[in-house]
Amino acid sequence: MGNANILVAGSANLDFVVRAAHVPAPGETVLGRELAVFPGGKGANQAVAAARAGAADVRMLVALGDDAFAAQLEAPLRDAGVDASIVRIAASASGSAFICIADDGENSITVAPGANMHLAPEHLPAFGAASHLLMQLEIPLASVHAYAQAARAAGVKVVLNAAPAQVLPRGLLDNVDVLIVNEGELAMLAGGHGGADLSMQCKALGVCCVVVTLGARGALVWRRDQPMIEHPAFAVDVVDTTGAGDVFCGVFTAELAGGVTLEVAMRHAAAASALACTKLGAQSGTPTRVELDRFLADRAQ
Ligand code: RIB
Repeated sequence: MGNANILVAGSANLDFVVRAAHVPAPGETVLGRELAVFPGGKGANQAVAAARAGAADVRMLVALGDDAFAAQLEAPLRDAGVDASIVRIAASASGSAFICIADDGENSITVAPGANMHLAPEHLPAFGAASHLLMQLEIPLASVHAYAQAARAAGVKVVLNAAPAQVLPRGLLDNVDVLIVNEGELAMLAGGHGGADLSMQCKALGVCCVVVTLGARGALVWRRDQPMIEHPAFAVDVVDTTGAGDVFCGVFTAELAGGVTLEVAMRHAAAASALACTKLGAQSGTPTRVELDRFLADRAQ
């Protein structure tokens, strides 16, 4: 591993996953199949993906409760080689998520944030050698904003995955270097500006670089006054798309920190994200560097 170093500040949730014929409609009860429990949370999924990709050393700022879930969330971070700065929240449950995966691949997720919502501005550790700070929106928005401001002041690049979609505090995007969103999140942030045109929506946000993930259609990078970069998705046999976007964000950021071009970072992130869809559980299919390189070599032929 080189000297590249990133800090992820975000959530960890224990995911309770049930497969069913379809996702319940409002008011409906669906009889699903067996329950499976996996480590998840957008922050932890991204940190694990970044660490397994091996392009950068990864630290994570995360808040855990004082319950039995905490150990189940800590172990996969440690196993992946993530250096975790854990804030222990007394008398709080750790984060959890309740996920229904339909046979057609659609999913619905409800998060009980627990300790994640106690991650406060004063918990931010020193950036040290980190060149990039990667965040999502499953911790308090005030903390995301404060961490982004601190990173900008320290010359650390801020990568924000604005998920789950929500209205952002005024000024937050001014401190973001790379914004990663799906189409729904982009439309919400653009607030009607740009109509249905993705590049106009990106332009309306005022961020220099916007990455839009497009699910089975791949992803694109929009940059002010520069040509758009598009990358198709790799075709795989999909078992579970939960966390695929997180794997994209983690690998993309680690690769950027490692100094590759945007094109290469996109290709590696798209490959890792495709592999993540081949197993049940948000972190289960996240590839190691060896698995990622083998997949890329196979697909290059
Ligand atoms: O992006 C997928 C993640 O969203 C799941 O792991 C779940 O915990 C929620 O945070």
